Amino acid sequence: MSSPAGLELLQLRAGVDFAVGDHVATQMANYVYAVLEPRHHVALLVDPAWAPFELVDRLEAADYHLVGAVLTHYHADHAGGSLGGLAVPGVAELLERCAVPVHIQREELAWLERSSGLERSAFTVHEDGDVLSLGEGALRLVHTPGHTPGSQCVLLGDQALTGDTLFLDGCGRTDLPGGDAAQLHHTLTRRIAAWEDSTAIYPGHAYSPAPSAQLAVLRVTNRVLAPLGEAEWTARFS
Ligand SMILES: [Fe+2]
Repeated sequence: MSSPAGLELLQLRAGVDFAVGDHVATQMANYVYAVLEPRHHVALLVDPAWAPFELVDRLEAADYHLVGAVLTHYHADHAGGSLGGLAVPGVAELLERCAVPVHIQREELAWLERSSGLERSAFTVHEDGDVLSLGEGALRLVHTPGHTPGSQCVLLGDQALTGDTLFLDGCGRTDLPGGDAAQLHHTLTRRIAAWEDSTAIYPGHAYSPAPSAQLAVLRVTNRVLAPLGEAEWTARFS
């Protein structure tokens, strides 16, 4: 999938496109995204959990050089760490092989320090709206709290990688540590609701048959984007 930002997006489903045979990965149905800049053959990985070495092998086989990772949030199925006692490989293992910056929102730092076991210095901390350069392309990091305090979406032109903030049907849970239904209500109905209709939503999990959908469609079909007040929204969805 090419992007107007001069970047290409590769959507990889855990258990299907990589980590094949890992039954937990298959069940969790996470998407990892590779953002590729074809002129300079540089790449970023977004939420490189489950089989980070395999993901790097894949990039290198296509002659791409990994220059960074982006984490949408701290949960182990996206960043690696302990998932109910199961050790999920992720960014800590990735850094053993490739010493690259790991881009996160400031509000996620304490959570990631705890969950990944990495030092604070391993993370490159961002504010809402920061722009990452990738060769001649650029990505924007948007702070979208609610699922976790420092959840972020990654924008490549009109393509949005939304992690667990917004799925094609529904949104991420708010009952896990750090979740906040009022914040997620604000994120969805004020911030994401302001994005262009043409924005293509690429979620963090394959919970729907389609791999992505336009925001114009989701405004109609996804009930969590309904323009409800906070009390009604949280009563229905939290
Ligand atoms: Fe999550």
